[in-house]
Amino acid sequence: MADGVPLIQVDNVSKHFGTVIALAGVSMTVWAGEVHCLLGDNGAGKSTLIKILSGVHKPSEGRILIEGEEVHFNSPRDALDRGIATVYQDLAMIPLMSITRNFFMGREHVVTRGKGLFERLDVRKANRIAREEMAKIGIDVRDPSQAVGTLSGGERQCVAIARAVYFGAKVLILDEPTSALGVKQASVVLRYVAQARARNLGVIFITHNVHHAWAVGDTFTVLNRGRTLGTFAKEEISREQLLHMMAGGRELEELSAELAEFARGRNRTGGEGARPA
Ligand SMILES: Nc1ncnc2c1ncn2[C@@H]1O[C@H](COP(=O)(O)OP(=O)(O)OP(=O)(O)O)[C@@H](O)[C@H]1O
Ligand SMILES: [Mg+2]
Repeated sequence: MADGVPLIQVDNVSKHFGTVIALAGVSMTVWAGEVHCLLGDNGAGKSTLIKILSGVHKPSEGRILIEGEEVHFNSPRDALDRGIATVYQDLAMIPLMSITRNFFMGREHVVTRGKGLFERLDVRKANRIAREEMAKIGIDVRDPSQAVGTLSGGERQCVAIARAVYFGAKVLILDEPTSALGVKQASVVLRYVAQARARNLGVIFITHNVHHAWAVGDTFTVLNRGRTLGTFAKEEISREQLLHMMAGGRELEELSAELAEFARGRNRTGGEGARPA
């Protein structure tokens, strides 16, 4: 995993929105064949960081290096051209359009037939590719011309990921892909994340859910109010420590202490109170 040059290096990146400091000097490294989980509570800066990596925002300070070379993205297109594909939770898909149309959206020129004015998407070929690519990840699409809106949330996430992989992504960024999913559908997506790693992609997996992160993650970076609390390899840390580190770990602990205290108080009054016989 750790030979050669990392796919992505985030070097001391800060981002200010007016007076709001969303990121304050964050560094992290992503390797090919690694699932790197980005954890942190609401407002920690996770989405801001990946928007910088995917060309939506520019860093206020710091550098981004792709395969060892400093880059300045002016648009998401620039990031895509460097092989960085981002799948957002609110997927950019059109529910009424077919799986195939969504799969090839913006890339119709890749499978065309006819020449000049008559050039158009080769629907049969496109259908076959869409079905094959989905089958590779264990999703059996009987009819790729069916509307994307008829798929489950997990399957829709998988279409987006399959599309990114097919079009040659080196880095796959997933922003909360499992947060709106039930256990079964989340496991479909998690299995696919593991497959992307097996194909030697680098995956940045953003989640609030430590259990989901733990299931597939190799490394874990925890953000807290725009700063990183560090990056940890799986063997260096436990799931409980991770939970603890995410802001809210302490709050939860205080809450359970309070609840225990409350329960003790009730037992006491319950014991003292004279119960009518
Ligand atoms: N475009 C923006 N303009 C102003 N402030 C912003 C902007 N985008 C993000 N912020 C602020 O930056 C901080 C980090 O936000 P960000 O969306 O990166 O957090 P997050 O870790 O993704 O949170 P969540 O888990 O809720 O998605 C927040 O305080 C947010 O309000
Ligand atoms: Mg976010």
